[in-house]
Amino acid sequence: MCLFQIIMSRRLNARRTEGVDKNVWVEFTKLAADYKVVNLGHGFPDFSPPKFVQEAFCKAVSGGPQMHQYTQAFGHPPLVKSLAKFFSRIVGHEIDPLEDVLVTVGAYQALFCAFQALIDEGNEVIIVEPFFNCYQPMVKMVGGKAVYVPLRPKVEGSAVLSSGDWVLSAEELASKFTPRTKAIVINTPNNPLGKVYKTEELQMIADLCIKHDVLCISDEVYEWLTYDGNKHVKIASLPGMWERTITIGSGGKTFSATGWKVGWVISSGHIIKHMKTIHQNCVYHCPTAAQVNT
Ligand SMILES: Cc1ncc(COP(=O)(O)O)c(C=O)c1O
Repeated sequence: MCLFQIIMSRRLNARRTEGVDKNVWVEFTKLAADYKVVNLGHGFPDFSPPKFVQEAFCKAVSGGPQMHQYTQAFGHPPLVKSLAKFFSRIVGHEIDPLEDVLVTVGAYQALFCAFQALIDEGNEVIIVEPFFNCYQPMVKMVGGKAVYVPLRPKVEGSAVLSSGDWVLSAEELASKFTPRTKAIVINTPNNPLGKVYKTEELQMIADLCIKHDVLCISDEVYEWLTYDGNKHVKIASLPGMWERTITIGSGGKTFSATGWKVGWVISSGHIIKHMKTIHQNCVYHCPTAAQVNT
């Protein structure tokens, strides 16, 4: 085998690649394979999606030549219409399918577009711990500064019996907001704890966002996976939050089909338009057949 290495007299890699090269999923997937152990790190079901979902996918791919060609950059029209109609009822706001929705390559690309489009060098982004791993490197790549605030046991020192026993301290969270804060990232239901934020908790976060004129990036990929009577509430549905919330969803998580990588962002058109700018200069659009099916 012949190995070629380009020796450059100047720096090869862009600075934004530095400090973000390690990835927990890459590392653990390799470790699991090397030691032949069950990989509990990377979250995907080991069963097939429901039959109706599989059948819809087959129907989509045999649905004629258009199913195999490009569709619209910001989302296949029937999908953006369905998303808008469906979530309008939940958010309590008339969602415009062309202005307020962006279909992405999974929720991951939605997050990427959000940080790229909305966070500038020197901006602070509050991240609630524990958090899904990509928030931190994505903030770092745009030159932002991650500011962490932990979920803590409801009663300090007491046993944590359920995910609901992990809470944010209102005072502690308030202390993290500064004039440089541009956004807060929340994840409900939370990965890895499973915590489903209650309306009062979301209201407390919303009040701070409004007070400090801060955006809320709300990762809601597990919105349909709630148990024991817990109800998922969208922070975008609270008064004054539609205009400043970026709600991120995932078809892969919803339909047990993570490999399709269909995600979306629902937000006010004045925010979505900047995310579209990143999207059109990045992947441009997402696979048609997976969108038809979703
Ligand atoms: C909290 C959270 N957000 C986003 C994602 C990415 O979702 P997708 O597979 O739709 O890109 C995941 C995937 O595990 C996740 O757990």
